[in-house]
Amino acid sequence: MSRYDNMTYRRCGKSGVLMPPLSLGLWQNFGAEDDPEKARELIFGAFDRGITHFDLANNYGPPPGSAEETFGKIMKASLHSHRDELLISTKAGHAMWDGPYGNWAGRKHLISSLDQSLKRMNLDYVDIFYSHRHDPDTPLEETMGALDYAVRSGRALYAGISKYPASAAGRALEILKEMGTPCLVYQGKYNMMTRDLEGMLDHILEVSGTGLTVFSPLAQGMLTSRYLKGIPQGSRASREGSLKTETLTEDLLTRLRELNSLAEERGQSLASLALTWVLRHKGVSSAIVGASRLEQLDDSLSCLEAPELSAEELERIDNILSSNQA
Ligand SMILES: NC(=O)c1ccc[n+]([C@@H]2O[C@H](COP(=O)([O-])OP(=O)(O)OC[C@H]3O[C@@H](n4cnc5c(N)ncnc54)[C@H](OP(=O)(O)O)[C@@H]3O)[C@@H](O)[C@H]2O)c1
Repeated sequence: MSRYDNMTYRRCGKSGVLMPPLSLGLWQNFGAEDDPEKARELIFGAFDRGITHFDLANNYGPPPGSAEETFGKIMKASLHSHRDELLISTKAGHAMWDGPYGNWAGRKHLISSLDQSLKRMNLDYVDIFYSHRHDPDTPLEETMGALDYAVRSGRALYAGISKYPASAAGRALEILKEMGTPCLVYQGKYNMMTRDLEGMLDHILEVSGTGLTVFSPLAQGMLTSRYLKGIPQGSRASREGSLKTETLTEDLLTRLRELNSLAEERGQSLASLALTWVLRHKGVSSAIVGASRLEQLDDSLSCLEAPELSAEELERIDNILSSNQA
């Protein structure tokens, strides 16, 4: 059986790009301090299951750059023969190197960073290059001009923007369109507990035909069974980095347990339910999940076989989570 037999790909906005409903993100668990064998197993495991999209950024690690290096080693050793089957993205815009050019979204930073990323990943080009965040001090024309140049110079096939507030996003999409390099995709945070994107989905992305990749669809692991019985050693919360233990209040855990009961009634895990919820929105081109082991990815992928959510179930989820943002 082929790796493509069980995956139904989604069109990214109104483009010619098809994306797997779940993609693998390399923000955490792929740095220099992580086990390279596990990283390899996850990347190959994902690809073998039909996940063709891998999401990176210049600063993923730790240390920054090392996730791209891990990916680059795997590319060089064994994935190069599959390069044309892979959709690889990277980004620039968060602090990366010292001095005035190592951060934000000026042309100097974006293009120098992309050249560094290509070297680390052993690639001639990336499929998608994102401006990682809006830079309020650089004219949008300059940032979008740099993305346009990245595409025209052959360093990237498509341009994307991430985490831009709605007004800046709307203008950025217009500028890119005028330049002849339409924005392929917007990347933003979206999960049952963080829904701010919903307004943007309908008003900006749908109108412009831009696709949407969503990050942290499992709220960094909170919308899974990971923390229902405490904080396991080695988990993201135990590392006290991007997920703080104080976020896991008793109140939140009570709600998560209620969601878990709903998931069980539906015959799926909490992670699977959280992804069914995200993917119910047809505007979502792909949900970018993280994973620290292959079993988690399989658990997440089981959402693709789950029944659709009924109106009553959606309302029950809203009631369980009302007044919560994470
Ligand atoms: N554009 C941006 O600014 C931005 C920001 C953040 C992320 N991203 C992208 O989005 C990707 C995903 O973000 P994320 O890692 O926060 O996503 P996530 O899918 O919400 O969380 C992933 C974490 O949840 C846990 N997990 C995953 N599946 C599980 C399962 N089935 N059961 C139990 N636990 C499970 C694992 O944590 P443990 O490590 O504890 O096992 C895993 O590392 C990133 O890698 C990156 O590519 C982009």
